[in-house]
Parts: sequence; structure tokens; C-alpha cells
Amino acid sequence: MPDSTIIDYDGLIPNNVGLNEDLRVRKALETWHPGYIDWWKSMGPEGFQDFPVFLRTAIGVGSDGWAKYGFVKMPDYRWGILLAPAVEGRTIPFGAHKGEPAWQEVPGEYRAMLRRLLVIQGDTEPASVEQQRHLGSTTPSLYDMRNLFQVNVEEGRHLWAMVYLLQKYFGRDGREEADDLLRRRSGHQDTPRMLGAFNERTPDWLSFFMFTFFTDRDGKMQLGALAQSGFDPLSRTCRFMLTEEAHHMFVGESGITRVIQRTVEAMKAAGIDDPYEIERIRALGVIDLPTLQKKANLHFSLTLDLFGNEISTNAANAFNSGLKGRYREDKIDDDHQLTSSFYPVLRQRDGAIINEDVPELSALNMRLRDDYVVDANDGLTRWNRLLKTSGVNFQITLPHVAFNRRIGEFNAIHTDTQGNILTNEAWEATKETMLPSTADNEFIISLMQPVREPGQYAGWIAPPRYGIDNMPGDFEYVRMTS
Ligand SMILES: [Fe+2]
Ligand SMILES: [Fe+2]
Repeated sequence: MPDSTIIDYDGLIPNNVGLNEDLRVRKALETWHPGYIDWWKSMGPEGFQDFPVFLRTAIGVGSDGWAKYGFVKMPDYRWGILLAPAVEGRTIPFGAHKGEPAWQEVPGEYRAMLRRLLVIQGDTEPASVEQQRHLGSTTPSLYDMRNLFQVNVEEGRHLWAMVYLLQKYFGRDGREEADDLLRRRSGHQDTPRMLGAFNERTPDWLSFFMFTFFTDRDGKMQLGALAQSGFDPLSRTCRFMLTEEAHHMFVGESGITRVIQRTVEAMKAAGIDDPYEIERIRALGVIDLPTLQKKANLHFSLTLDLFGNEISTNAANAFNSGLKGRYREDKIDDDHQLTSSFYPVLRQRDGAIINEDVPELSALNMRLRDDYVVDANDGLTRWNRLLKTSGVNFQITLPHVAFNRRIGEFNAIHTDTQGNILTNEAWEATKETMLPSTADNEFIISLMQPVREPGQYAGWIAPPRYGIDNMPGDFEYVRMTS
């Protein structure tokens, strides 16, 4: 096994997996590379490929100093393959093989299942880049533009991470899957991305912040579960990806915080106390809080669909086989096999939502979704603390998990944001009070006027508290000269 503390930064593909000695995989990746660059240039950030951007690049896998900052044109970004260091003597932490040595090669009996897990995870990474590719032209600041591009290049690196595993461990069908990852397109009629939320549009910056807050957080949960995998290369890959994912959460959480801050400042300056005076607040050029709540309702509900059916044999099999654990499996105190335990699942029964205990193995999607809801709720506290201290009588809350769902137990019913079941007529009559209406979206779009002077911010969002890598407030994060 190559020494993972040694990063080869000289070749075409920076890595700590000993690619120099692994000619077969190196050749496969080098063959894949031009297609990736073509994809990046045609489907990556539109219009800013030739401008130097102040980006961080992963250069190590230690807990300190794993990244460096500097100006780079995005197509020249060093997308590398970095795995967290191997843990000496690691064993499979859960499932039927619990306690056996972690697999360093693909276990033959689970090959198809493992490949499927890699492909589904891999597909989300380029999808979000595609969804966000038009946002550069309406950026509220150079700081935000840089953060967008940072998220984009790292999602690109996450694609590399999955492609490495496919090409290293799956031979020809792995190479075919790697090619298909560049072939599917977000929102495309014939060749869409695999999961629904990744085929939605991200038309404006409020959607981008909501997406990074809610949907990248699903990514964090999935990576957290895959980081527990008994297939050690996947575990190590995901552990390193999680260090990057934290920044994506930060972009969403701090982005919405800044939107709220600007709104309450403008309301205060105009002497408006009532957050529901929507027209007056919008006239100030800021986003009213009820619209923020509707956007949160939308992005939360779309993201919940990514967890799949509450009761799932696939999830049970992935766990039982030792491939995909629970979120922070290693922090859970139980037998890690779940063959005789139960878990409460919210179900829809005869027009009512009820709690039902089901065998825990089959309820793992539900459990991951529950963990996600807790994590998302934690994230909301910063927004709500700010609202509280600013004296505005409003709190952002998560809607009920049954609200606006397309997948799982609640796909056939309508509910309000409290989870009360609605008739079709009641839903049609009230949905625009709970989800963004066309007029809401048009208002948001109308605010999206680009601001590209260093240190300047669009009127609907407050400046950040700190610069990236401690840079001063007027730092030119993206140089508008190629
Ligand atoms: Fe990612
Ligand atoms: Fe992400």
C-alpha cells in the first residue's frame, strides 16, 4: 500500500495513491482526463473560465494545512485524488461481516451493489456544477463568486474521487461508468442525472445558498454513511471529501445569514416591524422573510426525496453487506448488526400519518433522514438567533417531512407545512402560501444584478464577517482580466 502521507503533486493528477506505480489506473485516468476537461469547459461555470480565481486546492490529507490558497484559472485547477490515511488494522464496523478485516479489494459477492453506490454518489457531483453554471453572471460580489467556483471545483474533485474508485477497482465496466458520469446532464430530457433534486434548476443566488445549505447537507450525510464502509478505499475517500464538504455547508449557512442580516437592517432603517409587510419590504430591495421561509420549505422537501423510500431493502442490503453504514456509525452504541431491533417510521395509513415500528435494518433510509433533519435544524439556529437578537418577530422553521414530497410514504398525499393532510383543492388553494410562487421567483430574479467591484455587495446581502483565508474586505477574489 502506498504511503498516503506522500502527495505526488508533479504529475498530471496530484495524488496520494501511488499513481506513478499503478500504470494501468494512471493510464485509465489520463484517458478520461480530456473528456473531463471538455465537460468542465462546456458544462462548468459559464463565462469565467479564463479569469484567475482565488481558490483553495487540496494538497495534503493531514488535519492541519491540508489546503493552499492561490489564484488559478479554473480549467487549470489541480483536481487530485486524495484519500484519508489508512487506519492500521481497521475492521468492518457493522453488518454481517462486522469485525472482519476491512476489504482492500472489492468483495466479489457485493460488486454490483458497490458499483451502484459509487455511481449514484458520483453522479451528484457533476450534476450540481451543471445546475449552478449560470450563476457567475449574476454574482452579488466577487467574494460570493469565488465561493461558488470553490464549491464547483471541489464537486469536480469529488467526481474524480468516485471515478478513481471505479477505474481502480472495477476494470472495464468501471471505465464505462466513468464515461457515463460525463455523459448525463442535469435536467436533460433523455439523459438526466440519476436523482430528482439534481435535475432541478438553480436559477438564482438564493436558490444556490439554499441548495448548499440543504442539498449539500444530504451529501454530507451520505458521505458520512459511506465513510463507515467496510470497503476501505471508499471509507478513506469519503473521509477526505467530508473535509471539503464543510465549506459547502458554510457557504449556504453564512449566505442565508447574510441575506437575513441585510433584510432586518433594511426593515429597521425603514421603521418596518411587521415581517409580513411584504410589498414595503421588497420595495427596499431586500428579500422578505416569508419568502425565505418558502424557499427553505422547497429546498428541504426536495432534498428529503434524496433519502429514498423510508423502508428499503436496498438500504438493508447495503448495511448488512458492510458497504454503507449509518451516519457516524462508530459513535452509535448498539450491536451494529440490527438483526433484532426496531425503528419508528412515519407512515401514511388510510389518510393519516402514523408512527410504526419496523425492523431497523429496513428503516435505514428513514434513520439517515432523521439524522439529516436534526443536522439541518442545528444549522437553522444561527439564522434564528440573528432574527431574535435583531428584534424581528420571525423564526425560520423546517416544514413537516410529509410536506411536498415526491418519493416515499407521502408521495401520494398533500399536506400543509405542519403535516396536516390537505385535499387536492385545499392544496391548490394554499400551496403558494407555502412554496415560492411565480411572482416570488420573479422578484428574487429581479434582484440578481451583478456586482463585480472588489469589496462591493449587492443590496440584498450583507458583506461577510471575515474574508477567505483572512483576506481584507476589498480583496479582488476573482480577477476580471484573463
Ligand atoms: Fe460533493
Ligand atoms: Fe458539496
